[in-house]
Amino acid sequence: MPKIEIRYQKVRDAKRFFEIFNNSNFEFLSVIVKSLADEQKFLRGNHKKRKNNLEHNYAILYGTKVVGAIGVRIINYRNYIGEIGYFIDEKYWGQGIATKALKLIERGYLKKLHISRMQLVIDPRNLASIKVAEKCGYKKEGLMKKAIKLNNKKVDAYLYAKAK
Ligand SMILES: CC(C)(COP(=O)(O)OP(=O)(O)OC[C@H]1O[C@@H](n2cnc3c(N)ncnc32)[C@H](O)[C@@H]1OP(=O)(O)O)[C@@H](O)C(=O)NCCC(=O)NCCS
Repeated sequence: MPKIEIRYQKVRDAKRFFEIFNNSNFEFLSVIVKSLADEQKFLRGNHKKRKNNLEHNYAILYGTKVVGAIGVRIINYRNYIGEIGYFIDEKYWGQGIATKALKLIERGYLKKLHISRMQLVIDPRNLASIKVAEKCGYKKEGLMKKAIKLNNKKVDAYLYAKAK
């Protein structure tokens, strides 16, 4: 089985991320990428956001292939809280890639950022993501009313968290 790794995102990942967004059924992901140019713009902003400790975004590699992304957004008013998001190319679902990527980001990176509380905000219908959270030891803390926007509609979401 190819090795699963994470590394900082590069601007040249834009094409691959855009392809993944267009070819996968991301029913419960609130992020929308409208164009390749938008994706490039987002990736160009990564360096500054990392330097300012706002967001730390990684590409997920399966062997040499980029198959998804995982990132942590620092909740600014308490900079020891990180909110994590991820997606995987649909063709690669069900192989433990997101679970491994979440473990990698926790072990290798979050420690360095002094994050002691990690959160995941998940649509209750997103059973695959709930499974990933639970396999990584996150506990459900509650249902947040109208916490995410999906297809222009605000919907409730579970808050999963882990504190060290
Ligand atoms: C959520 C997501 C990242 C999971 O990626 P993945 O690499 O397939 O995840 P893993 O293989 O590590 O684990 C998924 C688990 O969910 C299970 N699963 C998948 N669909 C399921 C379903 N409908 N019901 C119950 N379990 C399900 C899988 O069997 C697997 O569990 P197992 O290892 O015990 O068999 C992927 O589905 C995705 O990119 N979804 C779209 C984006 C998204 O929703 N991101 C999360 C936003 S909170």
